[in-house]
Amino acid sequence: MIRFVTGNENKVTEVSEHLDVPVEQFDYDYVEIQADDITSVARAGAAESYDAIGDGDAVIVEDSGLFVHALGGFPGPYSAYVEETIGVEAVARLTADHPDRTAHFESVVAYADGNRIKTFSGRVDGLIVPPRGDGGFGYDPIFEVDGQTLAERTTEEKNELSHRGQAVERFAQWYRTQS
Ligand code: IMP
Repeated sequence: MIRFVTGNENKVTEVSEHLDVPVEQFDYDYVEIQADDITSVARAGAAESYDAIGDGDAVIVEDSGLFVHALGGFPGPYSAYVEETIGVEAVARLTADHPDRTAHFESVVAYADGNRIKTFSGRVDGLIVPPRGDGGFGYDPIFEVDGQTLAERTTEEKNELSHRGQAVERFAQWYRTQS
């Protein structure tokens, strides 16, 4: 069993599809530190969660962000705040008339077990487009890869190419070697 500290059930569904052990969702609200890179955010979140829960069981946390190239990487580590404040359609409008609509998602899974913290990352490149599709969550409707937005794909199809899918797969491969 792996304890995944997150309040986001969509992430739990995506992560469960990659792991051959059951995933337990644990709702603990760790502090998302301010940093330019999401690896630092994920590391700090895993360390804090492990200490705060305090029963000695290993934890994973996952942090992700959308980096829009024409906007110098904005919203990046601030993606959740920007989604909550101006919303994802406003992010799409910011680049609507820009010649460069490229962007990428990054994901970092951080594992903490008291002795060590390990991180695993993934990245997917795409284009910012006006919203399309009903699936997924967050920025999925405005992020297009190979002609389809992530919201136009099933969870399984998204997982095959997504930043989180890659990071979790890397974690899963390492985790299998530990038991
Ligand atoms: P956090 O990793 O939970 O801090 O989320 C960062 C922000 O990126 C939130 O606004 C999420 O909705 C968004 N986000 C994270 N992963 C994805 C994804 O796979 N698709 C679309 N949006 C995402």
